[in-house]
Amino acid sequence: MGELKDLIAELPKAELHLHLEGSLEPEMMFELAKRNGVTLKYGSVEEIRAAYDFSNLQDFLDLYYQGMGVLLKEQDFYDLTSAYLSKATADNVRHVEVFFDPQAHMERGVSFETVLIGITRALEDGHIRHGITNKLIMCFLRHLSEEEAFALLEVATPHLAKIDGVGLDSSELGHPPSKFERVFKEAKALGLKLVAHAGEEGPPEYVWEALNLLKIDRIDHGNAAARDDELIDHLIETGMTLTMCPLSNQRLCVTPDLTENPLAHLLRSGVRVTVNSDDPSYFGGYVNDNYTAIADALDLSMPEIVMLARNSFIGSFLSDVDKEAALDQIDAVFEQHRH
Ligand code: HPA
Ligand code: ZN
Repeated sequence: MGELKDLIAELPKAELHLHLEGSLEPEMMFELAKRNGVTLKYGSVEEIRAAYDFSNLQDFLDLYYQGMGVLLKEQDFYDLTSAYLSKATADNVRHVEVFFDPQAHMERGVSFETVLIGITRALEDGHIRHGITNKLIMCFLRHLSEEEAFALLEVATPHLAKIDGVGLDSSELGHPPSKFERVFKEAKALGLKLVAHAGEEGPPEYVWEALNLLKIDRIDHGNAAARDDELIDHLIETGMTLTMCPLSNQRLCVTPDLTENPLAHLLRSGVRVTVNSDDPSYFGGYVNDNYTAIADALDLSMPEIVMLARNSFIGSFLSDVDKEAALDQIDAVFEQHRH
């Protein structure tokens, strides 16, 4: 495992499934609560961590929306994003495509611009400071209405130079992709990339809907696809990327036992699978922790780990030139480890 761990650490990687608000560490939650005069329900960092014991997605979401209540000012979003980029850099993540949930802040009275400017300022500084590149994906909360999603898109429209794509997250069951068919069509017409969480807790049918109705460019999670052979074939034929998150699946009891995570089956069937951290502060690990845990649990080989890192760039929204440069670097690291 030592050798695999070194390989994982040294490989350049892209992270394609990361909720910025899910990277809010308890220490920062306390600091921002103090700075902003917000009262927390918890007395200590340890108490917060102890509360992170989830039995499903909704359990987590309840704490996730509560935790982000300390984010009020532009500087808070800047600090949150900067801290994540430092962690990602430490894991040798060279490119990130991050989500943010504006509706969850706007309903607390925080303006869209406050959130967006804080995040994008940190992304620009992260690029200068660490050389880490980025894309920004604005998510619609699927438990809210189609009308509210359209309202968000309208608020965001003057700022599209700073936004690369839209996504769909929050409570999956009972909120199928079909609910957002029209808003995704509009987003595509505006030139945005499209992604959606599908098949995390939901059935394979939700993945089919995300593909056929929303016409997404990438699937977030997609675990349920492993239960549908026809869907697996379709994913392979279309070269679709899945952004999987093993520690998230474990902590949200989607696949409580990591050895049963469908990542190995999908990868070995030929699906373009990637490894990501989702909400690292809530699920106990950043990108390299996810790679290490899944490599260990599923007995992944060195070439399989290299393939996961390659997939992270191939499945990204980088230009072909940038993808090729990253793939060359990955191959060089692999060469060193083979000898
Ligand atoms: N699933 C759905 N919505 C989310 C998640 C997730 O894993 N994290 C933050 N919002
Ligand atoms: Zn997610």
